[in-house]
Amino acid sequence: SREFSLAVVAGDGIGPEVTAEALKVLDAVTAGSPVSIRTTEYALGAGRYIETGDVLTDEDLAALTGHDAILLGAVGGVPGDPRLAAANIERGLLLRLRFSLDHYANVRPTRVYPGVASPLADAGDVDFVVVREGTEGPYVGNGGTIRQGTPHEVANELSVNTAYGVERVVRYAFETATRRRNRLTWVHKTNVLTNAGALWRRIVDAVSAEYPGVAVDYLHVDAATIFLVTDPARFDVIVTDNLFGDILTDLAGAISGGIGLAASGNINPDGAFPSMFEPVHGSAPDIAGQQKADPTASILSLALMLDHLGLADEAKRVTDAVTTDIARRQGAPRTTSQIGDAIAALVSDPATTLS
Ligand code: NAD
Ligand code: IPM
Ligand code: MN
Repeated sequence: SREFSLAVVAGDGIGPEVTAEALKVLDAVTAGSPVSIRTTEYALGAGRYIETGDVLTDEDLAALTGHDAILLGAVGGVPGDPRLAAANIERGLLLRLRFSLDHYANVRPTRVYPGVASPLADAGDVDFVVVREGTEGPYVGNGGTIRQGTPHEVANELSVNTAYGVERVVRYAFETATRRRNRLTWVHKTNVLTNAGALWRRIVDAVSAEYPGVAVDYLHVDAATIFLVTDPARFDVIVTDNLFGDILTDLAGAISGGIGLAASGNINPDGAFPSMFEPVHGSAPDIAGQQKADPTASILSLALMLDHLGLADEAKRVTDAVTTDIARRQGAPRTTSQIGDAIAALVSDPATTLS
């Protein structure tokens, strides 16, 4: 038997709603199998901060680090909640985890599943993955504000790009391309961000020489948004920096039929730290608590996790069930738990028919 220990951070808003469905599917896929995945829940997020004043303590971080993987729902409170004025849950929790656990490859796959209601009339055969750098760029918190509140306020966010950090994620993206269709598009804004752009270009060119079988092209990020809408089937692997990758992957989620379908893995490829799997979306305060959220992104993030843990068969059973469920979607919208139930039933028995 193979045993794994999984940390579960359901979080805020729709986080607990979608995570409950992913855990249902996890139960279904491990039932009667020699694989056992023990889960430990961690109450972290805006709710926990409001209750205790803690965002992520050193003890929390140490405990999370001891697991084989982390499954996260979403974190973030209701905009304007005065109780959150003094905290930043996104930085203090999510980014602290990504940075501390060295999640340098933020892997965000996009497929337009057969039968899905994409806003693109004829999306074509869309199947690409964005490898978003996860530990650098303008996210690092290297900035500051002076003269705050005066007419001369200055607010800086410095984008940090290191040769070490860029090379390792670029290398990861080339490796990803070799396991796919051998096409890599790197995205930046080299025409304006000339310093970071030159570093990225030099590193892509150098690593590219080691992968003669991978065809490489480059797009400025603004043009990349055009092609993601007009011809998304052209992409195989996209590699880009932390902020561009954030923006492109919400767009990718939208074209795939909704942000509720977009999964991600925050990967520490070296395996020194647990990787973390989460939907691309946030806590969606506008629909929280109403059973309106699509849990598919969380369920597909679970599949990415199973694959990462070496459980390729289990991962495939989950993605197959999702594929079947999506192809059957029509008519009245289902609740979050109805979608989770349907996918869990398909995992248990792929021959399950519509009830
Ligand atoms: P959001 O992704 O939470 O919501 C954007 C829109 O998408 C909303 O209309 C929402 O209802 C819809 N949506 C999101 N997930 C959905 C789902 N599963 N099914 C159906 N519709 C869905 O983005 P936001 O409103 O910009 O952010 C809300 C909060 O979440 C903020 O505090 C933000 O910082 C945080 N956030 C957290 C994460 C994370 O925990 N990984 C990611 C993104 C945003
Ligand atoms: C995401 C989110 C996060 C990000 C925020 C909440 C810090 O938008 O996972 O895409 O920008 O990475
Ligand atoms: Mn985002």
